[in-house]
Amino acid sequence: ESATKGGYPHFMLKEIHEQPKGIQETILRRLDADGLVRFDDIRLSKEDLAEIDKIYIVACGTAYHAGLVGKKAIEKMARIKVDVEIASEFRYDNPFIDSKTLVIIVSQSGETLDTLAALREAKRKGARTLAITNVMGSSIAREAEHVIYTWAGPEIAVASTKAYTTQIACLFMLALDMGYKRGVLDLAAYREILEKLKGIPEKIKAVLKNDLQVQKIAGKIKDAAHGFYIGRGMDYSIAVEGSLKMKEISYVHTEAFPSGELKHGTIALIEDGTPVIALATQQSLFEKSISNMKEVKARGAYVIGVTLEGNELIEEVADDVLYIPKVDDMFAGLVGVVYLQLLAYHVSVMKGLDVDKPRNLAKSVTVE
Ligand code: G6P
Repeated sequence: ESATKGGYPHFMLKEIHEQPKGIQETILRRLDADGLVRFDDIRLSKEDLAEIDKIYIVACGTAYHAGLVGKKAIEKMARIKVDVEIASEFRYDNPFIDSKTLVIIVSQSGETLDTLAALREAKRKGARTLAITNVMGSSIAREAEHVIYTWAGPEIAVASTKAYTTQIACLFMLALDMGYKRGVLDLAAYREILEKLKGIPEKIKAVLKNDLQVQKIAGKIKDAAHGFYIGRGMDYSIAVEGSLKMKEISYVHTEAFPSGELKHGTIALIEDGTPVIALATQQSLFEKSISNMKEVKARGAYVIGVTLEGNELIEEVADDVLYIPKVDDMFAGLVGVVYLQLLAYHVSVMKGLDVDKPRNLAKSVTVE
């Protein structure tokens, strides 16, 4: 078993480090000779897309969180309305589906029963279906009309990391492709965004090099009974995943909130020393994020900020700051989330927990 861990103490840490490679592979496999994203096999031509007026992204757990990022990307780049639904709820909601609906199913394993059942329901109601999955020949890959594979490689740790970031890479490529075909993006804008996406693996490598700082911060929060993750816009979509990682492998009760919403009740829970991981990677929302950090700081929170290099102003309010290299708002979360994965990992290790096989959880859930 240690051989397959490639020298890492846990599969999770190995898989966190495999993310630059997985994202790169996922993108490269889809590029044609002109360096453009190629989705010929999924038959979503310009004409097909003109007919689609609504998209659902349906998934469970971490894959659902990837869907939250995908919604932002598709709505921004392609201007199509997207709803993200939890698979186990979707089926019972009598979703608004007809032949103009595209249902995107996201699943690492391709076997999650709730997700598979949602796919079947979507097909039954006449939707077009597209799966994003990591496992070739899985039930979801076989039953969906179209498939985009993530090239993360096998994911062993129960807590998903590289499957999640490669799912996001797929959703970004899909958003780009749709935006271009629908005429929202011209070729120059399309190429510019694609180049930035291709640069993400390098930025993640820079984050991984900063692991020692994350370890030190983990040491400061490891005994906390509860904590919060806050962020605005894309940062909120990432915050929910950071919080889930902390809960599932470190057994710390955490919650994620849109930064502006905390004051409507939940801020009552902030006490002296309560850890608040505050994401402020969205340049356009930076000042607003800082004022939300001040609100929690004033109530005694221990604030860990995540922001872009150059935003040193954050140090006036945060107790610790994790910097990511400069990157567009659209992709900053994809880089910043790696800090949140590492933070959960180190807290789990420091508490002596079973990182790769947390209690009560299964890698693939085949019961409803
Ligand atoms: C389980 C795993 C999660 C995963 C979820 C969905 O609960 O523990 O890590 O996100 O299933 O799995 P899927 O294979 O459909 O992505």
